Amino acid sequence: MAESMKGLKRSHRCTEVSVENIGEKVTLMGWVQKSRNKGGIIFVDLRDRSGIIQLIFENGSIDEEGFEKAAKLRSEFVIAVTGKVERRSGAVNENLKTGEIEVRADSLRILSESDTPPFPIEEDSKTKEELRLKYRYLDLRRPDIQRNLMLRSKVAMLTRMFLEKEGFLEIETPMLTKSTPEGARDYLVPSRVHPGNFYALPQSPQLFKQLLMCSGYDRYIQIVKCFRDEDLRADRQPEFTQIDMELAFVDVDDVIDVNERLLAYLFKEALNVEVSLPIQRMTWQEAMDRFGSDKPDLRFGMELKDVSQTVKDCEFGVFKNALEAGGSVRGINAKGQGAMPRKKIDKLVDFAKDYGAKGLAYLAVNEDGTYKSSFAKFMKEEELNDLVKAMDGQPGDLLLFAADKNKVVWDVLGALRLEMARQMDLLDKNEYRFVWITEFPLLEWSEDQQRYTAMHHPFTMPMDEDIPLLDKDPGAVRAKAYDIVLNGTELGGGSVRIHQNDIQEKMFEMLGFTKEEAKERFGFLLTAFKYGVPPHAGLAYGLDRLVMLMTKEDSIRDVIAFPKVKDASCLMTEAPGTVDDQQLEELCIQITKSGEEE
Ligand code: AMO
Ligand code: AMP
Repeated sequence: MAESMKGLKRSHRCTEVSVENIGEKVTLMGWVQKSRNKGGIIFVDLRDRSGIIQLIFENGSIDEEGFEKAAKLRSEFVIAVTGKVERRSGAVNENLKTGEIEVRADSLRILSESDTPPFPIEEDSKTKEELRLKYRYLDLRRPDIQRNLMLRSKVAMLTRMFLEKEGFLEIETPMLTKSTPEGARDYLVPSRVHPGNFYALPQSPQLFKQLLMCSGYDRYIQIVKCFRDEDLRADRQPEFTQIDMELAFVDVDDVIDVNERLLAYLFKEALNVEVSLPIQRMTWQEAMDRFGSDKPDLRFGMELKDVSQTVKDCEFGVFKNALEAGGSVRGINAKGQGAMPRKKIDKLVDFAKDYGAKGLAYLAVNEDGTYKSSFAKFMKEEELNDLVKAMDGQPGDLLLFAADKNKVVWDVLGALRLEMARQMDLLDKNEYRFVWITEFPLLEWSEDQQRYTAMHHPFTMPMDEDIPLLDKDPGAVRAKAYDIVLNGTELGGGSVRIHQNDIQEKMFEMLGFTKEEAKERFGFLLTAFKYGVPPHAGLAYGLDRLVMLMTKEDSIRDVIAFPKVKDASCLMTEAPGTVDDQQLEELCIQITKSGEEE
């Protein structure tokens, strides 16, 4: 029978007890990790969020009733124990912080019993993630995930402490609101009081933080949930947390300055890692040209090379056609991979195709200096030699080429560069390479929609010198936008905002909003800006991503207490679920199609 806390107080967490406490009486509470009954003596590993300590129950040190109870202990029972701290009688356990000591129990309460858990509660679990997420409350007992969530808590606290000193105010913004466009679909909440009307959950607090600048709060911060209905990946969840900020009377450098110091502070305080400042900056154009990505991983080289000029006169149709269509031919050099078997190269070709390539041309430089290549037969020997030279190809190297529109070439080689780095084991998780990406294009042409969309969001300011291009060549306009990238992951992004109504209206026009639509959706912002708005700028980090990189995890699911899986469902609560007819009726909602019918 479960006993209660009556009269009992915990004196320490398990690993707060040390050799300093030898001879003292302590009261510990936690879960039974395991118990070993050796006849007259029972050893129990007791676990709480701090770690593990060994308990010892021996006939004589504890009364008979207590000893009998101890013999009943099973994994995950919750117990309270009082006893004396002693130096270990057996060998010191080097793996435990408390490996030199044990607690000789003189009383035991079983606070609750446990069924046999569906998987062992242990570090580096081998259990499938689906099962762990179904029983997430058990999974959350595992030490590695507990460390992750403790670090997450620390990062949030340190962020608040640092920004408070920098004069930021934490202000909450609504969750039931109007659509804030960040490029994803909205999650909608039906209104009962206004049938047929919906709130949108915020994709970010973007509009509200800009309004707060309008209202004079000049430095805002919020650690805030955001909601985006988009395809999920390892670094994307439908609800996630931002460290969101906005500053008034600032330009790009001011935002970058405070954020660099914030990052250096967080890494120093939470991980004892030095981030050397200033953090490197790179324009978007340079990032694309050199790495084929706006979030380049700078822990390794293997940079893209544009060989369009070198191959411009060759007869290889693939290269020729791409260049004639205004595209380019670029390549990467996977050093020392020249002996890769054909089958494996074919896998790379398929990989490239997944990223939109029509094919992938390769050339391996054999150890004897001859070539093995998918396109050598279409080119003169001299042309091949020039190409190999342009790529700095040495015996043993594998050269991979993509020919297409620039965007496709960048996507393919950017992804391939990372894939090769994984295969070649070039990614060191102990290294933290930050880079600011600046001067993003303001607009992006959408083939699907046949119109421009905002690359960051519609409130981002064009660069001063590019404003005249807005009419003439919108695609060439660069924005005062910046992303902070760490080891190939976009940690955060932001921009200087448009604070002039004429530019904002122009922007809405470029994005294809009619005047009426713009007024309907963002009228309150445009009106607010008529009453005195300071120049302002901001940035938001994905807290989940930041903590994922700090804990060296591969997925943000490992740093979120209750994450969702790929289809945006929660395996534990089984959300989303159906609701009863009465609720639907109150909301004037009729379900016309079920998932199965689609
Ligand atoms: P942005 O859309 O770039 O900017 O988002 C900022 C950061 O939030 C994180 N993030 C996500 N993390 C997990 N799951 C997701 N689905 C997800 N989507 C985004 C990323 C990203 O860098 N309002 C602007 C910021 C600003 O301009 O101030 C915004 O939301 O780490
Ligand atoms: P093909 O003439 O289509 O057999 O192509 C010859 C070689 O060029 C093959 O290795 C293809 O994979 C490769 N290839 C085809 N299209 C492209 C492209 N757009 N970029 C790079 N290589 C390509």
